[in-house]
Amino acid sequence: MKQVKILMVCLGNICRSPLAQGILENKVDPKKVSVDSAGTAAYHQGNSPDPRSIAIAQKNGIDISHQKARKFTKHDFSIFSRIYVMDLSNYQNIIAIAENDYERAKVHFILNHHEEVPDPYYGNEDGFINCYELLDNACNRIVKSLN
Ligand code: 4NP
Repeated sequence: MKQVKILMVCLGNICRSPLAQGILENKVDPKKVSVDSAGTAAYHQGNSPDPRSIAIAQKNGIDISHQKARKFTKHDFSIFSRIYVMDLSNYQNIIAIAENDYERAKVHFILNHHEEVPDPYYGNEDGFINCYELLDNACNRIVKSLN
């Protein structure tokens, strides 16, 4: 069976998408599903995830501390089979780079009904707890959709 390659995308690739990557990796067989993450901006290129994301993941038994931020590139459309975005702005930025309907069809909102995972960067720990819960539920739905 061909491995499914999933990419999680947010703005900075230090708060939401690294968490989404870690949570989904923790729920799948790595031989069947690979998960990566990227940001639409390069502000934090090469940086570790935000310490608050590392902490909430750790509390839930997931280590994301080894991840390094990178910027989304056009080439990601040829590597990944599914690309999940956190919010409308991520969606618009990615869709603007897509070259055809085949690439555009790979882009999905990670939450149902085009809801957004709120950006927790400028908030407090509660925002990260909320983010974790939204992404954990979303990843359960992704796992079901893979079977
Ligand atoms: P993320 O959060 O997109 O979930 O990684 C952000 C991280 C950094 C910034 C904005 C959002 N920033 O403006 O630096």
